[in-house]
Amino acid sequence: MTLFTPVSSPNRPIRFLVVGAGQMGRAWLQVLNESPDVEVAGIVDLDLELARGAAESAGGETSVDTSVSRLAKRTGAVAAVNVTIPEAHHLVNSEALESGLHVLCEKPLAPTVSMALRTAAVARSSSRLLMVSQSRRYLHALSAFRGQLAEMGEVGFLVAEMYRGPHFGGFRERMPHVLLVDMAIHTFDAARFLLDGDAVSVYCEEFNPKWSWYAGASAATAVFEMSGGRRFTYSGSWCSAGFETSWNGRWRASGARGTALWDGEGAPQLDLDDGGVLVPDLARTGPEGIAGALAEFVTALRSGISPSGEASRNIGSLAMVEAAVRSAQQGKRVRIADVLSSALTRAMADEPDGEQHDLLASVLLN
Ligand SMILES: NC(=O)c1ccc[n+]([C@@H]2O[C@H](COP(=O)([O-])OP(=O)(O)OC[C@H]3O[C@@H](n4cnc5c(N)ncnc54)[C@H](O)[C@@H]3O)[C@@H](O)[C@H]2O)c1
Repeated sequence: MTLFTPVSSPNRPIRFLVVGAGQMGRAWLQVLNESPDVEVAGIVDLDLELARGAAESAGGETSVDTSVSRLAKRTGAVAAVNVTIPEAHHLVNSEALESGLHVLCEKPLAPTVSMALRTAAVARSSSRLLMVSQSRRYLHALSAFRGQLAEMGEVGFLVAEMYRGPHFGGFRERMPHVLLVDMAIHTFDAARFLLDGDAVSVYCEEFNPKWSWYAGASAATAVFEMSGGRRFTYSGSWCSAGFETSWNGRWRASGARGTALWDGEGAPQLDLDDGGVLVPDLARTGPEGIAGALAEFVTALRSGISPSGEASRNIGSLAMVEAAVRSAQQGKRVRIADVLSSALTRAMADEPDGEQHDLLASVLLN
């Protein structure tokens, strides 16, 4: 099924709006400005001064506004990067898609799976591409680690831990389930990528240590059953100073023929039972992180081929987050299938237009 209409002038730079001129918005502006494939047509933020400041530091004459639809019309933009806070993602994505823009949205696609389903349905009804930027997928070292898993025979265990103590200020220090919703999605999505499969169920405990400076739970431990009976265990904290792990976590994979380790930064190591320790030369070519996500988005827009981050393909990662939160709240194991089906029921109830219901259901069929 063709999900979106590719851009009509494939050789011209694609004109982008950046929506959200905060910390990450500025990182996106730099990546967009460095890419020969795109140009920044305008910047949107509810805080117009912030948008102006970002425009000035990006150099050149960049239009600013508080409204996506207005600036889309004024600039003739074709696409948008949504770098607003998670609570605003659904509204901003819907407005951009309905204004005819293709959208590359920062993770998480939405705070809940039901809202993500509704956003993905808007993309389908407007024949525009909605892709989620899960920037870790574009790390060369993660891809090398994935290659090692493929050499280990059947993989039984995948273990990730992420312990850091950042003081962000802003929305993160107020939001509920902050570690699971704003950070663990990266690690959960990486686990799906590494195992090339989806989660079946999870048992999770989340908590907030006494010294935590976050209002929501900033630490969690989860055990996922993944497809094929494999286990993925996650343990993380955002209020743990000292001996910090990489932002990408520290990983161990154990399989029938050996074990692979990755510290989240350098080259991963593979120890096979019939050989010594192997450390690959990392291919340092090609864009990484959000620049990698942008490259995949642009290729998709020009070719019409659905990217790995297309919204409906990202729902499995968001469902892992929601299932983990639900498990922590209920104190019991939660099945991913139950999370998806209750999200669909909720999305249909929240969507008064009955014609959208088939679209909502179709999102889960991918
Ligand atoms: N991939 C990564 O490694 C990574 C790292 C940091 C942040 N992020 C993600 O990037 C997003 C933004 O994070 P941040 O740290 O830049 O947040 P931030 O709070 O610094 O910036 C968000 C900006 O969005 C603006 N905004 C909010 N609602 C809006 C709306 N309806 N319309 C227009 N503008 C709106 C705010 O005014 C603010 O300027 C989040 O989804 C976050 O999870 C990803």
